[in-house]
This record gives sequence, C-alpha cells and structure tokens, in this order.
Amino acid sequence: MSSTLEIRTLTTPQELFEAGAELVAHAAKEAVDERGRFALALSGGSTPRSLYNLLATNARNSLPWDKMFFFFGDERHVPPTDKDSNFKMANEAMLSKVPVPQENIFRVPAENPDAAAAAEAYDQTLRKFFALDPGQLPLFDLILLGLGPDGHTASLFPGTAALQEKSKLVVANWVEKFNTYRITFTIPVLNTGRRVAFLVSGTDKAPALQAVLQSDAPGEQYPAKLVHPANGKLIWLVDRAAASGLTGA
Ligand code: 6PG
Repeated sequence: MSSTLEIRTLTTPQELFEAGAELVAHAAKEAVDERGRFALALSGGSTPRSLYNLLATNARNSLPWDKMFFFFGDERHVPPTDKDSNFKMANEAMLSKVPVPQENIFRVPAENPDAAAAAEAYDQTLRKFFALDPGQLPLFDLILLGLGPDGHTASLFPGTAALQEKSKLVVANWVEKFNTYRITFTIPVLNTGRRVAFLVSGTDKAPALQAVLQSDAPGEQYPAKLVHPANGKLIWLVDRAAASGLTGA
C-alpha cells in the first residue's frame, strides 16, 4: 500500500463525528475480514468523546467488539480514575458501554509514579501484542489522533524530546508548559499505521490546521506535520470551523 492523503471537510461537528464513526466501522470490518482482528489506538482530549459515544450507541450492535483491541496513543501521567485520564474518558464514553472483553483493552499504566517505567511497560505491551522482533514497528489498523492549538498530536508537543525518538515505541515526554510527564507513542509508531486519522473540530484549531497542512513551518514547531504514514492512509477529518483558515477550503 502506498501512502495516500485525504482531507475531508464536514459541515458540522456532528457530521464530523459521524464520518469518524463510519471510518472506524469501515476499518474494523476490513481488518477483521482480512486479518481476524482490529487493532485501534484511541486519541484523548475532548474532541473524540462524541465519536466514542456514537460508536457505543449507533454502532453498538454492528461492530465486531470481541475482535477489536484498544490501545491509547497517549496518556496523561495520572491514575485511570483521574478526571484528566484519557482512559477514563474513553471508558466512560464507550468501553464500559459495549461488549468488548476486558482483555482486549490495553490501558497505559500511568498510575505508576515513575513515568519512564510506565512508558517502558507500555512499550513492552505493544511489542508483545504485535509479536515484534527487535527493530520492528507495530502495524495498527487505525490510529486516531487529535490536533492541539499549538500543533501537537498525541503527547508530542513542540520542541519536546519525544520528537527525536526513533527507536522506542512509547516514551515518557516531559512537557514544560504543563510541568508534567505525558506518556506517548513516538513518531515511528504513528507513521506505521495502516490508517492514521486526525479528527479536528473548532475555530481554535484553525491556525494550527493551516500551519500543518498549508505552511512550510518545521515539524518541530508543529509536530502533527511529522505524521505521514509511510505505507498507509493519512486522513484528516475536519469540520468547517477548523478548516476556516485553509485556503481553498
Ligand atoms: C491528549 C490528546 C491530545 C489531543 C489534543 C486535542 O492527551 O490531550 O491525545 O493530543 O488530541 O490536545 O485535544 P482536544 O480534542 O481536547 O482539543
């Protein structure tokens, strides 16, 4: 599969989430038909909550939940009960409401006070699940990502050390502006996805989206620019508000 780029502008946030749900369902069906399982990395933050809600309601009876395996592209350095936990958000919005076996959900052990140890443990979780040889990268069927107003994605923030990581799958990334560690997939993992889909909503994301898609600013400054799967499909699902800064949108 060669790499392809698709940018879809949806009129409203609701249409954006519906398009996201259709994408997940299509990718899940294709993966299960072809390989017997669907490995999905969820994004965090607030945007995907509505997508997860849709999957747990409209798609509850149509998705092959028992053959779906859930990972997290990044996690805050907090316990799973914390209000900032990406696991907590996804669990409340979807995972606790659908018939997915618990053993199919791979949570980042972010309650560990040692963020580097939590990242190393999750790195090993990926290597074991995908049965990787040293140097091999995991082939997720779908990686969902968001976009921060500063151009970050997952927990790959501008100017942070994780942007330089080329061999580890998961790292603890110190984020100065939040004075905290975040645990995140690295760029090589994001760029190995069969499908990598950004979901971007709202006018506050318009400047970052324009910079990522239509400027020659460096990836260090807008890390989402560094995401271009070598042999996969890169899909940008954006609503009209987020696309309002794009020329020709
Ligand atoms: C996180 C996310 C992060 C998110 C963006 C956008 O842990 O916060 O993984 O990369 O996708 O910050 O967040 P919103 O959807 O809340 O705007």
